[in-house]
Amino acid sequence: MHEDITEILITEEEILAKVVELGEQISRDYEGKNLLLLGTLKGAVPFIADLARAIALPLEIDYMAISSYGNTTQSSGVVRILKDLEGPIDQKHVLIVEDIVDSGLTLHYQMDVLRQRHPMSLRVCALLDKRRERIKVVKLDYRGFQIPNRFVVGYGLDYAQRYRNLPYIGILKPSIYQDDTEQPQMHHKSPAEGD
Ligand code: IMP
Ligand code: MG
Repeated sequence: MHEDITEILITEEEILAKVVELGEQISRDYEGKNLLLLGTLKGAVPFIADLARAIALPLEIDYMAISSYGNTTQSSGVVRILKDLEGPIDQKHVLIVEDIVDSGLTLHYQMDVLRQRHPMSLRVCALLDKRRERIKVVKLDYRGFQIPNRFVVGYGLDYAQRYRNLPYIGILKPSIYQDDTEQPQMHHKSPAEGD
């Protein structure tokens, strides 16, 4: 275990088993449909890479980068598209692949934007669902794990851009961030950075 991690919440084996399960479910649900997996940069990259290989259907992959607008500690609900999709989605069944849903603000905004482009369908697959009161309620059509309201890193998730390469989901030691002025419970990204 990495020295900055206090507890492993979900092991690599548990993640991969869940990804296989989700892949099978998605393969059944999207058979015969024009599927576009839409990953949110940067956090969803390991998840979408594993999930795509667990889906036994032809599919396309594209990415969006979205960031909270401004540098406040609390998310304002105003988010910005830093990188957009390559093409139209009106002939596609879009499945958003997210690392984690916390307040729900980012995903809610992203879905509003995408709906205006009239995809054939729009659903969400989130690896982690933080157990907390949402600011915006979003339906998670596919969900990996519910986790407690703690700040986690690994398998794509970062703190100050680090720890994305840990193969498991772990809780960061408070000593790592207690000296920082920005607290990781909130949005700690600068506006120039994606998720
Ligand atoms: P929301 O708009 O509050 O749902 O924010 C979701 C985004 O915040 C995620 O895509 C992550 O980038 C980030 N985030 C929320 N909770 C965590 C966490 O525990 N660890 C790392 N990033 C997180
Ligand atoms: Mg994200």
